Amino acid sequence: MLTKNITEKFLWGAATSSHQVEGNNRLNDWWRFEQEGRVKEKSGLACDQYRRFREDFDLIKSLGHNAHRLSLEWSRLQPEENKWDEAQWQHYREAIGYLKSLDIEPILTLNHFTLPLWLADKGGWTNMDSRDYLSHFGKKAVEELGDLVTYWITINEPMILSLLSYYLGTWPPGEKNLKKAFRAIEVLMHAHVRSYRLMHEAARDLHRKRIYIGIAKEAAKMSPCDGKYIWDFFPAFYRHHFYNHMFTWSVMHGWILFPGYFIKILPYFGNALDFIGLNYYRRYHIKYCGPGPVQIFGDECACPVHKRFARYNQLGWEIYPRGLYEMIMDFSKYRLPIIVTENGITTDNDDQRIEFIMEHLDAVAKAKEKGCPVVGYFYWSLIDNFEWADGFRPRFGLVEVDYNTQKRTLRRSAHFYSEYIKEIGLA
Ligand code: FCB
Repeated sequence: MLTKNITEKFLWGAATSSHQVEGNNRLNDWWRFEQEGRVKEKSGLACDQYRRFREDFDLIKSLGHNAHRLSLEWSRLQPEENKWDEAQWQHYREAIGYLKSLDIEPILTLNHFTLPLWLADKGGWTNMDSRDYLSHFGKKAVEELGDLVTYWITINEPMILSLLSYYLGTWPPGEKNLKKAFRAIEVLMHAHVRSYRLMHEAARDLHRKRIYIGIAKEAAKMSPCDGKYIWDFFPAFYRHHFYNHMFTWSVMHGWILFPGYFIKILPYFGNALDFIGLNYYRRYHIKYCGPGPVQIFGDECACPVHKRFARYNQLGWEIYPRGLYEMIMDFSKYRLPIIVTENGITTDNDDQRIEFIMEHLDAVAKAKEKGCPVVGYFYWSLIDNFEWADGFRPRFGLVEVDYNTQKRTLRRSAHFYSEYIKEIGLA
């Protein structure tokens, strides 16, 4: 398979995001949502990583990771519409500089779900001006940090972000309006494409350097509820296309294509990715529930027959390692390098985490053997953290956090992953 090589070595690491680990991110829409009591827990000090980044990055080093995925907290860096906070830019320079001094490659996300309050108040992702706000932020980020950072992610999980914020209403701003959710998806596409162009220009003009830009795209395996019932294949197909592919397809090909629904040409789009980031956690079983604009997506089923044979994490997400192999194979049609930007489990049983990692790394290895250009894997998450609407109960970390004392303890799974990297690795 002919794909450009974007890294000499396989990137091994774990991922986090600013709001989930830093603590005290008071100027974003999530913080406000939490204070309003719209989710069960408040992020508060989270893991206090804003102050403890050295300790955490030393842990990464001790585990033998050669890369780390983290995000910028936009609301710190641009607390008001017309104001950059230079001290905060300096903070991230220090943090990322520290990673580099440990020889750990940063993979930096611009936007991992949270929005500065001033932008949320302007309509957030339903306002087309957000395209310019994100791209200016991206440009500034490359100007400030482009000498240190080669791998960039503009947006984390655009489909989940749009659907939970504007359709299911469980995330800020808590709206239940399908039209707005569609609008947000489209604005996010524009925001990505424009950021992609401006960030590349900034890197070329200012740093004389090639950077690589992608999206952390959520991908889930969609299976028909009953493999012998032809009608169940339709909603599974629709979900697969809509949730897994529509976004990537659009920014790569220049039109939004939704089979049998609509097609929209996007004039300045096309080839706006240097790699595919995949966030993979789970499988859904989908059953047919009739024709109609929303019905074509079917229903998630909870048939006892699936329950009997399946394994689940603590949040009820079905564990299905083969799905990661299938998603990598499927996304390799874009002929771009693929980085697994998130994959992980919340469980109180660390043996289950070890098994999860082992099985998913097998899936990655198998896809690689088949010739798929997978060039990195990031376990979610480095440390336990604030899991959005689910609060602190889910424990995804390789590192356990005691929230009373902020003490970090390495789990056995952290050692297992570390050994895997050292002993087996992937070319
Ligand atoms: C992903 C998010 C990440 C974390 C994991 C468990 O959807 O990108 O922030 O919440 O799920």
